[in-house]
Amino acid sequence: MDKKELIEEIKRLKSEKNAVILAHYYTIGDIQDIADFVGDSLALAQKAAKSDADVIVMCGVHFMGETCKILCPQKKVLVPDLEAGCSLADSCPADDFGKFVGEHPGYTVLSYVNTTAAVKYHTDIVVTSGNALKIVNSLPKDEKIIFAPDRNLGSYINAVTGRDMLLWDGACHVHEQFSTEAILKLKAEHPDAKVLVHPECKRPVVLLADKVGSTAVLLKFAVEDSCNEFIVATESGILHEMQRQAPDKTFIPVPPEITEGSVGCSCNECAYMRLNTLEKLYACLRDETPEIHVDENIIERAKLPIDRMLELS
Ligand code: 13P
Ligand code: SF4
Repeated sequence: MDKKELIEEIKRLKSEKNAVILAHYYTIGDIQDIADFVGDSLALAQKAAKSDADVIVMCGVHFMGETCKILCPQKKVLVPDLEAGCSLADSCPADDFGKFVGEHPGYTVLSYVNTTAAVKYHTDIVVTSGNALKIVNSLPKDEKIIFAPDRNLGSYINAVTGRDMLLWDGACHVHEQFSTEAILKLKAEHPDAKVLVHPECKRPVVLLADKVGSTAVLLKFAVEDSCNEFIVATESGILHEMQRQAPDKTFIPVPPEITEGSVGCSCNECAYMRLNTLEKLYACLRDETPEIHVDENIIERAKLPIDRMLELS
């Protein structure tokens, strides 16, 4: 099947099965173009919670599919490729995290949405990069907080709010690659450009930003700000929607730092997100597999911190 036929078949299957296609901004342009809704991880969770479709196809990564399933256990939740994981979620194994939480009684546990359902089981409130500051600020100043798994997002929140949250030592392999050197080099070449940074980047990179925020926050800023040129330090998939919403502006992706001895892919693309292709999306709608399954006991417990997040957002 060529691309045009694939797109037509996906649309036909979607309406035949009363399915909705949700996609994250980091997926390839073809997937974003065919999706019913494209958003950051907060908006995707909100959309899933309100969906009246029978089938949800989550084009993103595995934890996003799990979040959908937890919010809509009665629906069929499909993902184009079960191997689409997340290095940040992987940096926080549930057993180790459960032990860590047990060793710190009296702490409120905040987990970034980029975690497995089993980690959310040990969590009091889930946050995303889009609502983390608001949720932390809603808690009493003297509340003792554990924040997991992203040390970079955690230290950004600590710096902005003046808190001293206890941080889990995890990180995203894509966002950790961005360096101050690469940004300063681009800044020298484009002195009028503003710098957009996702808070999963390291602290020195965040300090160079004109705007720090979730993918949706960076997109809104890029579209609404009077500046015409932006240096973008996050996964480069977001450039597709930035360019679509602001066709006359210039968006410059920050190239990753290639460290000496680095093996394999060292890129500003999330290899997991890129596993979502039109071919796999078509096959997944046609065969209704791979499907996301989450243990009922985990759903029951993990839904509480996600619902709390949605209430506080
Ligand atoms: P957002 O919540 O900003 O969409 O980010 C999700 C993610 O995976 C970032 O790496
Ligand atoms: Fe996970 Fe990083 Fe990919 Fe986001 S960009 S899904 S945090 S590996």
